[in-house]
Amino acid sequence: MLEEFERYPLTFGPTHIEKLERLSEHLGGKVQLYAKRDDCNSGLAYGGNKLRKLEYIIPDAIKSNADTLVSIGGVQSNHTRMIAAVAAKIGFKCRLVQEAWVPHEDAVYDRVGNIMLSRIMGADVQMVDDGFDIGIRKSWEDAIEDVKAKGGKPYPIPAGASVHKYGGLGYVGFAEEVRAQEAELGFKFDYIVVCTVTGSTHAGMTVGFAKDGRAQRVIGIDASFTPAQTKAQVLEIARRTADLVKLGREITEEDVVLVEDYAYPVYGVPSEETKEAIRLVARLEGMITDPVYEGKSMQGMIDLVKKGYFPEGSKVLYAHLGGAPALNGYGYAFRNG
Ligand SMILES: Cc1ncc(COP(=O)(O)O)c(C=O)c1O
Repeated sequence: MLEEFERYPLTFGPTHIEKLERLSEHLGGKVQLYAKRDDCNSGLAYGGNKLRKLEYIIPDAIKSNADTLVSIGGVQSNHTRMIAAVAAKIGFKCRLVQEAWVPHEDAVYDRVGNIMLSRIMGADVQMVDDGFDIGIRKSWEDAIEDVKAKGGKPYPIPAGASVHKYGGLGYVGFAEEVRAQEAELGFKFDYIVVCTVTGSTHAGMTVGFAKDGRAQRVIGIDASFTPAQTKAQVLEIARRTADLVKLGREITEEDVVLVEDYAYPVYGVPSEETKEAIRLVARLEGMITDPVYEGKSMQGMIDLVKKGYFPEGSKVLYAHLGGAPALNGYGYAFRNG
């Protein structure tokens, strides 16, 4: 589906699929859980889902003759860490707007984890006091203008690389990769579970799996706590991406499945149930998930298994999208493990 698009390699190649044997058993053994480890997809600053997206965006950045990647996220944004890493790798400068998206408990929240890594990688980090919103932000537009005013050539990448024209392509590639891995494994996954916030990961998967009739088997777990906006953004990106890859059919509202029940109490703050899910999968599988994104989708998947959402015998693929560095900003929440 992606043959005609240029790709700048930033990842190791196809990511590993592993069976979550002990977690599956712990939950009764009626559903087989697997994880696709996009959290371990690269040597670039711990990797994660943004690199798949950026592989299809960076060729355009290089062609544009820009010299500075300009992007935005929360203080502990994984996305901005990935932008800083990619800028370093391709020899660009990096300007990052870090908004106050999360009410936090730890005094060192703005010194550790993702933001520390971005600073180490040389990004020009600007703290802004605005709250959570996945839309286009004035602070980001101002940063783009500021880079120009100082003689730089900005290449703007929106939050999560999502509403960028090529933002959905990377996760179309994920679906193609899964299909190739299924041929080797000798079975197909019945469901794919993915954490959804700015939307292009879910949207790309919806388009990629629509090709073999599985769009509605992509189960997005909302972690934004603004699900209406997130769902609308997924649909918009999926429609644009479907056109781009010439899917040959329209993506409908029904194709976007977003479960809204696990994002509470608010974006970036883990509930007791999220923390329990993080501990459970860490203790049964040695797999680390974070309090902002993957812990919430893990909580969602576990709860859906318990509720019987997936019919007996189902094979469920959890897309692990990264995010562990943010845990450093949540020392208080996990002070006793
Ligand atoms: C670790 C992790 N998981 C999930 C997501 C959600 O992906 P998206 O923003 O494409 O919906 C993000 C980024 O926002 C992330 O960093």
